[in-house]
Amino acid sequence: MNALVLNGSPVRSGATAWIAEETALHLQTRYSVRSACIDDYRIGFCRGCRACERTARCVQHDGMDELMAQLTWADVLVIVSPSYWADIPGQLKAFIDRCTPWCDTHQPHASLPGGKRGYTVALRAGSGMGECRRIIETIEHFYGHMHIACSGSLGLCAVGSRDAAMVRREEIDRFCSEI
Ligand SMILES: Cc1cc2nc3c(=O)[nH]c(=O)nc-3n(C[C@H](O)[C@H](O)[C@H](O)COP(=O)(O)O)c2cc1C
Repeated sequence: MNALVLNGSPVRSGATAWIAEETALHLQTRYSVRSACIDDYRIGFCRGCRACERTARCVQHDGMDELMAQLTWADVLVIVSPSYWADIPGQLKAFIDRCTPWCDTHQPHASLPGGKRGYTVALRAGSGMGECRRIIETIEHFYGHMHIACSGSLGLCAVGSRDAAMVRREEIDRFCSEI
């Protein structure tokens, strides 16, 4: 089984990156794992032209093609996202918007191979789980329309730095053992 761990933050050495690294390490014992950072890919904004609602294809060709190839490969997807203004980072939102050719709300639409499972980790610097829940909802909404089964989530408050993430290792490992 293949697992893709996606760092949804543009920061490659921050708290999100550490959680993604820990997740990948944990999964390596049971899965063939690939890791990616959303900032590895140059993904243009959706232009809202809606051509994909007629053609099931996007008019733009950029880093999206490469990231979708990774998603196609993965049986399991783990998206780790920090809170940026109480929501997912813009780079991750741009990716989700560009998945509209695969969205099941219009016909024809493109399809990923079936049977995929999606997991979410949301983290934030502040306290209060509501903000983590909002991020998890956004990502699970995306999974739903992509026919990726929502299979588990973890919210982590008070994680404003890599060091603050590292002390949560036990919680993260416990979550990973359910994947
Ligand atoms: C632009 C920006 C906006 C942020 N907004 C919030 C926020 O609304 N609520 C919160 O709790 N933390 C917020 N944070 C803090 C991050 O969620 C937190 O520091 C996280 O650990 C960042 O992970 P990263 O360095 O891996 O991107 C924000 C950070 C940035 C850079």
